[in-house]
Amino acid sequence: MNASSFAIGVDVGGSSIKCGLVDLQTGEFAGERYSTPTPAQDSTATLLAAIATVVADVPGNHAIGLAFPSVIVRGTVRTAAHLNKAWIGQPLAKLATEHLRRPVYAINDADAAGLAELRYGAARGVSGTVLLLTLGTGIGSALFIDGRLVPNTELGHLQVSGREAEVRASGRTKVDQKMSWDEWTEQLNMVLRELHALLWPDLIVLCGGITEEPGKFLDKLRCESPVRIGALRAQAGIVGAAFATTLAGNPA
Ligand code: BGC
Repeated sequence: MNASSFAIGVDVGGSSIKCGLVDLQTGEFAGERYSTPTPAQDSTATLLAAIATVVADVPGNHAIGLAFPSVIVRGTVRTAAHLNKAWIGQPLAKLATEHLRRPVYAINDADAAGLAELRYGAARGVSGTVLLLTLGTGIGSALFIDGRLVPNTELGHLQVSGREAEVRASGRTKVDQKMSWDEWTEQLNMVLRELHALLWPDLIVLCGGITEEPGKFLDKLRCESPVRIGALRAQAGIVGAAFATTLAGNPA
C-alpha cells in the first residue's frame, strides 16, 4: 500500500463531524467511518478537541483534509454562519496542524464536496460551468469552470426574492419548518431558477443528506440547467477533504 495514496477526510457539519480514510485513486473509503456530534457553538478549542477525538479512531498517521462550513482563505476562517463567531480570523489549518501533529489542509465544506463529485462522482469529466450545492444545515456552493474551482462562492447566502437561499431551501429548513417535500421542492426551484439566471451552469449537482431520498423530489425539480444528484451523497465532503490534501497550498 502506498501511504500517499490515502488521506483522512474530515467533514465538520452543522450536526456531526464525520471522518474516514479515503483511497485517493478511487475516492472510496478504506475502512470505517467515524462521527461525533459537532459542538458548533462551543469554543474553538472544544471543536478542535472533538475533531482530534474522531480522527484518533482512524488508524495510521495520514495527512488530513478538513472540510469546514466557513469561508476559508489560505487556511484561515473568514466567516462563521453556523458556528461560534470566535472562529472568524482563526488560522484553522495552522491550529489543526499543531493540534493533530500532522499536516492539515482546511477547505470550505462545499468546495470539498464539489472536488469529490468532480473527481470521482456525478460531475466527473464535465467541462464548462459546474455548480454544486450542498443542502444541509445551510446551503453551500462550489463553482467550477472547466474543472477549476472558484473557491468560497457562498451562494447559499444569495437573496432570492427577499430571503437567503439557505433560509428557503436548506435541509435544516425543511426539518425546522416541517415542510412537505412539495413545499421544500418549490423553494429549491426558486433558488435554482435564480442561480440559473445568474450563472447559466452546464450542470448543477445537488448533494447533502437530504439527497439520499431523490425519489421524494427529483421529478418535481424545475430548472433549465441539467441537474444531477451527487454520486457521493452525504459523503462527498469527507472524500473531497481527503482529496484536498493533494492540492497546491497544502501545508505539507
Ligand atoms: C456557509 C458556507 C457553507 C455552507 C454549508 C453556509 O452557511 O456560509 O460556508 O459552505 O453553509 O455548510
